[in-house]
Amino acid sequence: MELKTVLYRLNGLYKLGKTAPKLRGKVFVNKFGTIKIGKNLSITGHPWAVQITITKGARLIIGDNVYVNAGVGIAANKEIVIGDSVKIGPRTSIFDSNYHRIDSADKGELSKKITIGNNVWIGADCTILPGVTIGDNSVIAAKSTVNKDVSSNVLVGGSPAKVIRELEIEEGWIRD
Ligand SMILES: CC(C)(COP(=O)(O)OP(=O)(O)OC[C@H]1O[C@@H](n2cnc3c(N)ncnc32)[C@H](O)[C@@H]1OP(=O)(O)O)[C@@H](O)C(=O)NCCC(=O)NCCS
Repeated sequence: MELKTVLYRLNGLYKLGKTAPKLRGKVFVNKFGTIKIGKNLSITGHPWAVQITITKGARLIIGDNVYVNAGVGIAANKEIVIGDSVKIGPRTSIFDSNYHRIDSADKGELSKKITIGNNVWIGADCTILPGVTIGDNSVIAAKSTVNKDVSSNVLVGGSPAKVIRELEIEEGWIRD
């Protein structure tokens, strides 16, 4: 059996995937829920480990040609959907749960679905908060905190992230 297939299985990234992902360095997968991955998933787990957690009953769906850079944390407590050709920069966090209540008046849902569209580029050190949807082709500038939905074809940045400008995206264009 090929080493990458062994790693693929050991990491719990096996069921429902179309092809074995390319994993480099340390990639920890705590899989208690469902994970579905597309073709050509590539994850770099060095110099910082990547940690992916799917709790019981939760779902993580990753499209084709997705790249996850070092130090990224993804934690699905409800549902996280990552589209095709998404690039996730180093040390970015995508957690769909607040995990903790703010105060005793806080009775809201702790976990809310996150959806990241196709061809989205998320820069380094970003935080994508529960409930957020990011539209196709958009770019999240480095060190941004995304706490509200982002429409398609825009550059957003800052904490909280605001629209910086509209992007010019030709039909079918995928960023390299
Ligand atoms: C957004 C980015 C791509 C630059 O895009 P750009 O179109 O060249 O933007 P500019 O540098 O012209 O800046 C445009 C505006 O956005 C602001 N801006 C740029 N980067 C920003 C950031 N990370 N956070 C907040 N605002 C930012 C600029 O201050 C400027 O604002 P102003 O018009 O008020 O002066 C770049 O700053 C960035 O964040 N790159 C991510 C790099 C990264 O994380 N790489 C990791 C590997 S994936």
